[in-house]
Amino acid sequence: MAKLTIDSTYRMPSGYDIPVLGYGVYQTPADVASDVVAHALKTGYRHVDSAVGYRNEAASADGMRKSGIPRSELFFTTKVPPRQLGYESAKQHIANSLKETGFDYIDLYLLHAPYGGKEARLGAWKALVEGVETGKIRSIGVSNYGVHHMEELESWIKSTEEKEGKGKGGVLSVNQVELHPWLARKDIVDWCKKRGVILEAYSPLVRATKSDDPLLVPLAKKYNKTTSQILLRWSLQMGFVPLPKSVTKSRIEENADLYDFELTAEDMKSLDTGVYEPCAWDPTTSTD
Ligand SMILES: NC(=O)c1ccc[n+]([C@@H]2O[C@H](COP(=O)([O-])OP(=O)(O)OC[C@H]3O[C@@H](n4cnc5c(N)ncnc54)[C@H](OP(=O)(O)O)[C@@H]3O)[C@@H](O)[C@H]2O)c1
Repeated sequence: MAKLTIDSTYRMPSGYDIPVLGYGVYQTPADVASDVVAHALKTGYRHVDSAVGYRNEAASADGMRKSGIPRSELFFTTKVPPRQLGYESAKQHIANSLKETGFDYIDLYLLHAPYGGKEARLGAWKALVEGVETGKIRSIGVSNYGVHHMEELESWIKSTEEKEGKGKGGVLSVNQVELHPWLARKDIVDWCKKRGVILEAYSPLVRATKSDDPLLVPLAKKYNKTTSQILLRWSLQMGFVPLPKSVTKSRIEENADLYDFELTAEDMKSLDTGVYEPCAWDPTTSTD
């Protein structure tokens, strides 16, 4: 693996690049989002992870403009809300996101969660594919999809291509799921890695519940880093795109200060807990 820097990107299956370090804005109130997003971008982040459901698309976009960094150097993600999939609904959300943000295009549009049934999932996906065809969106993906959801999508893409031609079913670029040492999701990770689908790691700090953890504290001491930085470095070295969230300026900076150390293979292994301990919801297991 090439040495990672704060400017590192991965090439997605869509052909577009995604900045490896993301900045999450879940639970970031709209009245502070503009300011903290601008601060994150000044710190060196180039990638903002929002969602319709976070109610801060407009404020995040405002922070991106306020940063003074050209739009072409920034990356913005948003998501069709959970339980609002379906073709018409997704189409409406895409139009609304463009209006809210004032952007000409969205870099990455995701389906937030697989809830709603097969028809709703595939209908919403079709709306994303059309969004790409009309230039409103650059890359598309899913969030909280388990292997069975991704297989359903893959087989729809295949059969659509057979009927309508190559690329007509769209290109799955990303699956955004909760990922950290207490939830390493080997099945989902292997499925995605085999196909070059980028794994975005949400709740990479385990929502700040592990700062005194006996697995992390000795590593933090060894590398003279914080336990948060150990978690984010683990995520980077797993090949993920971590999306740490913070509204605290010093933590925004701390969470980007990750490029002057590297966990050894042995230390990475020590974080292979093998347990299943989500700190958020887990729609990947849903079967409706
Ligand atoms: N697709 C999905 O379903 C989904 C679900 C959850 C999250 N996400 C995405 O992933 C992003 C991150 O996930 P998350 O917000 O659940 O959890 P997280 O990033 O693991 O943790 C955020 C929490 O950690 C605190 N924190 C941040 N940096 C810290 C540091 N250096 N030291 C100590 N505490 C620190 C934050 O506090 P302060 O903010 O007060 O500093 C906040 O309480 C979200 O913002 C969102 O973009 C997506």
